[in-house]
Amino acid sequence: MSQDTDSVTDRVLVLNGPNLNLLGSREPAIYGKETLGEVDALCRDAAATHGLEADCRQSNHEGVLIDAIHEARGAHHGIVINPGAYSHTSVAIRDALAAVHRPVVEVHLSNIHRREPFRHHSHVSAVADAVICGAGSHGYALALAHLAQLVNKEIR
Ligand code: DQA
Repeated sequence: MSQDTDSVTDRVLVLNGPNLNLLGSREPAIYGKETLGEVDALCRDAAATHGLEADCRQSNHEGVLIDAIHEARGAHHGIVINPGAYSHTSVAIRDALAAVHRPVVEVHLSNIHRREPFRHHSHVSAVADAVICGAGSHGYALALAHLAQLVNKEIR
């Protein structure tokens, strides 16, 4: 944990769940035309403007996502997560986020509340400090701006 204000870059985890590796070609009318690589670059830039370093990861596997969340205990000051479809199904991801005591901002590219009823509930939202949905890839920039505030509050 950094004590210093100006000189240290705090690492945050940006975690994307299943099927988000297909961004750009996957239902672009819903998820946009940007690739995951472009979203990751946007996240690194947005993080840098707030004095953060974004460690961007993606997995299609629930256990790998859970391991990454556990890693955040020692390696990251906060978490931005788009759990994809696991938002709606995974109590295990919810429990992992609750266990690591890090600020969490949940992101969805699409407005899940305007879509099918099965997408309206996210298990993750109950343990997230904030939820941003429907803002497309800009939602990640918004999430990182808010996470920077939360991180500063917690560790300075
Ligand atoms: C999503 C919304 C989920 O319902 C869906 O399963 C995804 C992406 C979003 O970013 O809008 O994979 O999390």
